[in-house]
Amino acid sequence: MFLPTLVSLLLLSASTAVSARSCVAFDVNWNLLAFNLDGKDWNAGTQDSWTGSGQATDITTTGRPPFNDANTTCYLSQYTNAIYVLNGDTSSPSSVYIYDATAKSWTTQAVTAGSFDPSSFDAILDHDTNVFYALSHDSLFSLDMGLLKAANSTPLSWTNTETAPYPSNYQPVMALAQNHIHFLDVPGVPAGSADIFVIHYSYFQPESQAYPLPNGSAFPATYGQATSFFQPSDVQQEFAFIPQDSSAVYVINVETNTTQALAGPTYQDPDATYFASVTALVQLTSNGTVSFLPYQEGNTSVNAAATWSQVSVLSSVAPPSTTTASSTATGTKGGASATGSSSSGSNGALSIANIHSGLMLGAALSAVAFLF
Ligand SMILES: *[C@@H]1O[C@H](CO)[C@@H](O)[C@H](O)[C@H]1NC(C)=O
Ligand SMILES: *[C@@H]1O[C@H](CO)[C@@H](O)[C@H](O)[C@H]1NC(C)=O
Ligand SMILES: *[C@@H]1O[C@H](CO)[C@@H](O)[C@H](O)[C@H]1NC(C)=O
Ligand SMILES: *[C@@H]1O[C@H](CO)[C@@H](O)[C@H](O)[C@H]1NC(C)=O
Ligand SMILES: *[C@@H]1O[C@H](CO)[C@@H](O)[C@H](O)[C@H]1NC(C)=O
Repeated sequence: MFLPTLVSLLLLSASTAVSARSCVAFDVNWNLLAFNLDGKDWNAGTQDSWTGSGQATDITTTGRPPFNDANTTCYLSQYTNAIYVLNGDTSSPSSVYIYDATAKSWTTQAVTAGSFDPSSFDAILDHDTNVFYALSHDSLFSLDMGLLKAANSTPLSWTNTETAPYPSNYQPVMALAQNHIHFLDVPGVPAGSADIFVIHYSYFQPESQAYPLPNGSAFPATYGQATSFFQPSDVQQEFAFIPQDSSAVYVINVETNTTQALAGPTYQDPDATYFASVTALVQLTSNGTVSFLPYQEGNTSVNAAATWSQVSVLSSVAPPSTTTASSTATGTKGGASATGSSSSGSNGALSIANIHSGLMLGAALSAVAFLF
């Protein structure tokens, strides 16, 4: 009886580990922070040190989210030097975990979801107001973070701002630039154009805006990931759009209404996530590989020649899982949180002990002990 019980508990905890997720973000000094890589949080330092002989610093500390949700996302609040983590904890899906990058400490902000669905949305954090805007199903919601760099004891609330003029099956792709939310891949909007929500007037602009490439071609009308390039202190003016097939990176500039096509990432992972500083676009793949494309605002010739490199100071301390993105169907997606699995030679069910943390194994074993 002991063995079947142990196995079923292990399978139970493994299924929780399957959806563990990492995320990357920058602090205001443009240190690259990688959360939950091999189960730990890291500060990789500034861009000049990512590929050198330096070492990432382990910043794992108490109060961090469990990072057990498949869709964890991170945002930089530039005024407060805080990282806000959404969907960091399946047991409390609407909570916002706050990492104060100055104090290097975590707190958890309670949030009332109301009609907001934390399992289905895309969101941006508005630079100037520190308000989240999220499109979930057919509504635009907002969540005012005030100037929080640590949680307040009073819960915050998602507010249903208004109904969006998009079909309810639209899978949102959102990016912020010049206080305007850009919606890509909106049904019926041509390739190369975005729909716009003007934050200060709470206004869905009825006409789309075109952002052509210099040769007249257009970024594709397809699902993908989008993230804004920061400015040293002001509101963002450009954002990167990476189509799901990773074929290219499109940088859309909302000042000039133009797009530049740059090299697509080396690792073509449809589940990869992205985050940009002022001078780099960073990719995090689902097996925990972190790579970057250097970027110089306004320097099209340098950007056109730029190539992707791995952030080796992270891969040396937190090696990517050997399980590939394509093996997610067999339940090994949690590679990003695997504990030093480069030696695991994992294959199928036998890799369960490798892909989830010792903590969960311990929990499963003590549950077994409790049963006896
Ligand atoms: C993650 O996002 C996908 C796509 O929006 C959604 O289908 C799925 O339910 C989400 N998972 C969780 C655990 O929220
Ligand atoms: C970009 O497009 C907007 C909206 O159509 C327009 O107001 C603005 O003048 C354009 N900017 C340039 C540089 O063409
Ligand atoms: C225009 O430029 C893009 C990006 O470099 C390229 O993919 C596309 O093939 C070009 N289109 C034409 C018609 O030259
Ligand atoms: C682009 O960067 C190169 C190399 O740093 C520099 O020589 C050139 O002047 C820059 N051009 C522009 C337009 O900034
Ligand atoms: C991580 O995933 C990428 C594809 O997304 C793959 O090319 C790479 O080999 C994987 N890394 C390891 C260590 O398995």
